[in-house]
Amino acid sequence: MTTRHFLRDDDLTPAEQARLLDLAAEMKALPYSRRPLAGPRSVAMIFDKPTLRTQVSFGAGIAELGGNPLLVEGRLAGIGVRESVEDVARVLGRQVAVVVWRTFHQTDLDTMAAHAGVPVVNALTDEFHPCQLIADLLTVREHLGGLAGRTVAFVGDAACNMGSSWLLAGTTAGMHVRVSAPDGYAPEPAVVERACEIAAATGGSAAFVPDPGTAVEGADVVVTDTWISMGKEAEEDARAAVLAPYSLTPDLVARARPGAIVLHCLPAYRGKEIAAEVLDGPQSVVWDEAENRRHAQKAVLAFLLEESR
Ligand code: NVA
Repeated sequence: MTTRHFLRDDDLTPAEQARLLDLAAEMKALPYSRRPLAGPRSVAMIFDKPTLRTQVSFGAGIAELGGNPLLVEGRLAGIGVRESVEDVARVLGRQVAVVVWRTFHQTDLDTMAAHAGVPVVNALTDEFHPCQLIADLLTVREHLGGLAGRTVAFVGDAACNMGSSWLLAGTTAGMHVRVSAPDGYAPEPAVVERACEIAAATGGSAAFVPDPGTAVEGADVVVTDTWISMGKEAEEDARAAVLAPYSLTPDLVARARPGAIVLHCLPAYRGKEIAAEVLDGPQSVVWDEAENRRHAQKAVLAFLLEESR
């Protein structure tokens, strides 16, 4: 038996990503049509960092799939503190059908996956946020009619999980991904390299474009993320100073193609990484994007359970 996990965006082949997006769209249209967790079987949701959208969308989505969402408080569980990640994985795998984990280090998630014996889903790490990207791609598909060949500009702190996930997931979808950031906030070279490798097979592309105006020029999709990722709060002032020219202002967004859409995974800080007029304006699709977390993650869970049989 093979156990499939969703730990980073490139765990899915282009064909699998497309299938998963189709499934997410189907589940959005018919929310109770598939019940792979009927029984109910439980899904452990563990959060070592703050959460709103992820906790609620997984909880509601698991219930819609016929399952039991089991919230595991990270601080009480003390994973890697009271007992090793390996031992926690072995215990959880005997109790639940899937483990969903938001934590700091990707390596810990890899360890969980290696020992759980059930699918493990990345609900955000410092390195990647792949569930968010399925929701984002679903949102782009809904608004622009397709993904391959579209250009996306990710502007801001590109060294964070969202920058890396856009590079991998966007190129998997055959998109042209431009990432724009100041010195010190550029994407990980290994991630750019991997994105270029994926793009070579899908017809997409990946490029680091330091100037934000050049990156946004003619883009179909403009994306940003908070400048203060969870855990970076102490760097708030330093980050705001360096990242200020990368704020999604109306002038910057006006350089995208007419009808371009604006995404933000939230939480958003108006007047920082995105102007209020942009976040709350007609090009913003952030509330659809937030809703789509549920549909996307239901598809992820159904896909992994199906593939792990
Ligand atoms: N980069 C952000 C994403 C929040 C959903 C963070 O890690 O806090």
